[in-house]
Amino acid sequence: MKYRILAKLQEHAGQYVSGADLARELGITRTAVWKHIDSLKKEGYRIEGVSNRGYRLLGNPEGPPDSGFGRQLLCLGEVDSTNAVARRLLKEDGLPHGTVLVAESQTQGRGRRGRQWQSPVGGLWFSLILRPELTATEVAKLSLVFAVALADGMERYLPGQVRVKWPNDVLVNRRKVAGVLLEMEGEFDKIEYVIAGIGINVNVLPEVMPGELRATTTSLMNEMGVRLSLEKVLRDMLLCLEQAYDSFLRSGWLPFRRRFTRKCIHYGQCVTIRQGDKVLSGTDLGVDEWGCLRLKTAEGDLYRISAGDVVFD
Ligand code: BTN
Repeated sequence: MKYRILAKLQEHAGQYVSGADLARELGITRTAVWKHIDSLKKEGYRIEGVSNRGYRLLGNPEGPPDSGFGRQLLCLGEVDSTNAVARRLLKEDGLPHGTVLVAESQTQGRGRRGRQWQSPVGGLWFSLILRPELTATEVAKLSLVFAVALADGMERYLPGQVRVKWPNDVLVNRRKVAGVLLEMEGEFDKIEYVIAGIGINVNVLPEVMPGELRATTTSLMNEMGVRLSLEKVLRDMLLCLEQAYDSFLRSGWLPFRRRFTRKCIHYGQCVTIRQGDKVLSGTDLGVDEWGCLRLKTAEGDLYRISAGDVVFD
């Protein structure tokens, strides 16, 4: 409920919304509104309450993102996982297409293949709600499309240095700087919604990463030597994601298949794919029309890999 109140305040950004109006619209008491506002403030939201006028959300100085993605922006403090919060809100309410939930930190950030995602303060941890008219097979390619979009977007910070690793890792200096986790709900040919969870190590210091990740991850700040504005990076990335999404809907996967191949760090090289305990090595022949990785083994067998991790040899 508190995020519905937040959404109402964001709809009227900068204006006062009376407690009575909020209570009536949401079907709760004014005391309950006050308690939820108090809890939002504890999460770090700057909400001003003035008697006889109501509540007003004090926005961030850079204002909301320009793009349609993120026009509805829920800024959260510490959460378990933005994907989990999004799922809970989607069960309660309909969040519109393009809604973005961004958190300061996550205690149970989720990565691909059931892994944990380290999400300390300083990174950009967000979930984007999509309601596409696509089949599940098409949505699966969207995660590769978004990896290409993020890598292209980061080129402005680190020209010529950003690559992708199948299926959807973004790398700088062969180390991971961002990842995408797509979760969807609905039937195979009728997707109700997609939650695109995106994590970008923006101002994260390598020292705060646990031992095993310290060698394999990096951050934009670490590579550039400057601290970046999270609002600015979010705005830039949402614009790239939205352009890529529109282009994917308009022109399909083929242009992205080419873009992915151009940016892919292991294309044409010998790689190892790990799928749980199973391991397969061969030459990467590029992604196919489904977004699967084509691998040719030393024996000459051709495999199409639909899930797994590329491990560098
Ligand atoms: C990966 O394993 O590469 C995907 C990582 C995705 C992390 C993001 S952070 C925001 C969103 N909320 C989560 O719990 N996970 C995703």
